[in-house]
Amino acid sequence: MPVQEVKCSLCRKRVKVHDQYDIPIFDPNTGFAICKNCIREISRFLDEHDAAKGHAVNQPQQSNFASELGEVLKKNKPHVIKAYLDEFIIKQERAKKILSVAAYNHYKRMLYDYNHSGGEEEIDKSNVIIMGPTGCGKTALLSHLSRLLDIPFAVTDTSSLTEAGFVGADVEVAVRNLYYAAGKDIEKTEHGIIYLDEFDKIARKSGENNSITADPGHEGVQQGLLKMLEGSVVEFTARGQRKHPEAPTIKVNTRNILFIVGGAFVGIEKIVAKRVKKNAAGMGFGVDIPSNEDDSKRYDELIHQVRPEDLMKYGIIPEIIGRLPVICTLETLDEDSLLRILTEPKNAPVKQYEKLLEMDNVKLEFEEAALRAVAKKAIERKTGARSLKGIIEDVMLDVMFDIPKTNEPRKVVITEACINDGETPKIYPLDGNDNQDTAANDKEENTSA
Ligand SMILES: Nc1ncnc2c1ncn2[C@@H]1O[C@H](COP(=O)(O)OP(=O)(O)OP(=O)(O)O)[C@@H](O)[C@H]1O
Ligand SMILES: [Mg+2]
Repeated sequence: MPVQEVKCSLCRKRVKVHDQYDIPIFDPNTGFAICKNCIREISRFLDEHDAAKGHAVNQPQQSNFASELGEVLKKNKPHVIKAYLDEFIIKQERAKKILSVAAYNHYKRMLYDYNHSGGEEEIDKSNVIIMGPTGCGKTALLSHLSRLLDIPFAVTDTSSLTEAGFVGADVEVAVRNLYYAAGKDIEKTEHGIIYLDEFDKIARKSGENNSITADPGHEGVQQGLLKMLEGSVVEFTARGQRKHPEAPTIKVNTRNILFIVGGAFVGIEKIVAKRVKKNAAGMGFGVDIPSNEDDSKRYDELIHQVRPEDLMKYGIIPEIIGRLPVICTLETLDEDSLLRILTEPKNAPVKQYEKLLEMDNVKLEFEEAALRAVAKKAIERKTGARSLKGIIEDVMLDVMFDIPKTNEPRKVVITEACINDGETPKIYPLDGNDNQDTAANDKEENTSA
């Protein structure tokens, strides 16, 4: 049988009909027909239209997200979020407040959106940029926040992103991470929070902080991120699938996603200093930045004065800066703060080692002077709280190697000399006066029985 040809009433092309799917709509009486290409086109158009209006497309599962929101809002008041962060993060009070309020407002904005869809005033979202020296708690702050919140939250390392066409991950990866964090629920994804860590690494290399001329697509990455920040439909394939025309794609509208970006922005304080100096000179004042002042104090003063124009000079494109209205700066951690970080947070390094040794029947004690020595060393290393664990780890290595050799109840004391002079920590057997002794007696009884 010869292949029949039918004219599509829309595109007017003659289509060879092998089976009904070539012309899914065909009325033999009137000759009205629509070919499969036109139907595909219409379907795509409708999806995009829906997505642009903020409706989810290709939704695999419908969530009752909106109905849960009221409860979620009650549970996540700013002071509650901050109290949770306080359990893990020392100092950085302002940053904790800003993030608590940002998260709470994000929920409120969502609820408002659901209740007032159509026409009325919208509440703008307030994306946040956080900056502060290395090891002051930026990543830690956000990862604890993500554990608390009832909305999907994904952290993406911006420095791993590249412009499309370069080797590496495209900017869509940030949204894809959120999609997986949301359990593949598109509606939840579209209301989540994306944290872009190491955001300073995509600054234009021609920014003032950089002397290198090569720029492997950083501006392109910024342009890509800008689109996301502005709110657009991001299309990506499921994890592990390469992008090719036939691969099914997932579409997510970023209009309601809250973006938090963070980084150390090394060197930005110099840009601020320059501006402050210039302004002061222009107004006829003397230069008011004493250069002999304590470095970190000076850094803190300057970083709190960061303005959008400084970020621009640093190499972030102005359109992006315009979409990050909240600037949140973290402070450098001083010796006392580091001391507290060692012992106070729920997951404090000292607590962690105590637990580890407890499992070997050993009581761990740090002398106050030893802890202070650790904090002092960390300050010398200039990596904030980041080096604390490493310094203790060095000292603990021998102890952790030797202790499991027997199961006797013992006590280890870490002294200042252990930290400063590399002295091996002393291990004592636990004597009768110690309350650990009962555990030892129990054990003896068990073995004799
Ligand atoms: N204020 C803090 N309170 C408690 N722990 C902290 C604080 N700051 C840092 N830490 C601890 O120090 C380590 C490093 O901190 P984090 O990764 O958050 O640094 P960062 O600010 O992201 O630095 P970078 O700019 O280098 O990425 C983490 O393990 C974290 O637990
Ligand atoms: Mg970090």
